[in-house]
Amino acid sequence: MRTPFSVKPTLTGERVTLRPFEDADLEAMRSALADPEVRRLTGSPPDEPFDDARLREWYGSRNAQTDRLDLAVVDRERGVCVGEAVLNLWDPENRACNFRILIGPDGRDRGLGTEATRLIVGYGFERLGLHRVSLEVYATNPRARRAYEKAGFVAEGLLRDALRDGGSWVDATVMSILAPEWARHGGRPEVGR
Ligand SMILES: CC(C)(COP(=O)(O)OP(=O)(O)OC[C@H]1O[C@@H](n2cnc3c(N)ncnc32)[C@H](O)[C@@H]1OP(=O)(O)O)[C@@H](O)C(=O)NCCC(=O)NCCS
Repeated sequence: MRTPFSVKPTLTGERVTLRPFEDADLEAMRSALADPEVRRLTGSPPDEPFDDARLREWYGSRNAQTDRLDLAVVDRERGVCVGEAVLNLWDPENRACNFRILIGPDGRDRGLGTEATRLIVGYGFERLGLHRVSLEVYATNPRARRAYEKAGFVAEGLLRDALRDGGSWVDATVMSILAPEWARHGGRPEVGR
C-alpha cells in the first residue's frame, strides 16, 4: 500500500544532505553503529554480536518501507554518509511519529545533527502532515538534548531509571515538537522564522 511515507526524499541543507540509503552506505553505517559512544547513547547492548547479513538486509530494505522514513545523513563537505535520521513508529490516527538519529564519530560536533534534525522534522510537518514528533533522550546525553532543543523539541516528561548503563540507572527525557510550534519558528525557536 502506498502512503506518504513511500516517497523517499532528498533534503538538502547547508552542511548535510539527507537522502535515501545506497548500497555504498553500508560500510559507513556499520562503523557508526559499532562506535561505543553510539551504542551507549542509543541504549544498544555494548557486546551485541554484529550480524552482517542482517545489517545488509536492513539497509537494503529501508527504501521499500511505507510506514517510516529512514534517510542517510551525508556530510556535504566530504560527500560521505556519517549516520542516519529516522521518523518511525508512525501513528496515522494521531498524525504522530517518533524521531531518532545517530551520527558516527567523524560527523559529530559540527552542527550536522542539528541541521539533519531540522530537515527531517520539517519534512514530517510540512510534507507528511504530522502533528507531533517525539523522542527520548538519556540524561547521559546532553549533546543530543541540546541539538534537539536547538531544533525546537520541548521536554515534556521524565522516564525514571529507563536504562541500565554499566553500574548505574539513567533517566530518559521525553521531548516533543508540535505542528503549530514548527509553523511558528521553523526549527529555530531561539530566533523564529
Ligand atoms: C546527538 C547527535 C545527533 C548530535 O549531532 P551533532 O552534530 O554531534 O550535534 P551539533 O553539533 O549539531 O549540536 C550539538 C550541541 O550540543 C552542544 N554540546 C556538545 N556537547 C555538550 C555537552 N556535553 N553538554 C551540553 N551541550 C553540549 C554543542 O555545543 C552544540 O550546541 P551549540 O551549537 O549551542 O554549541 C550526534 O552527536 C550523535 O549521533 N551522537 C551519538 C548517538 C546519539 O547520541 N544519538 C542520539 C540518541 S538520543
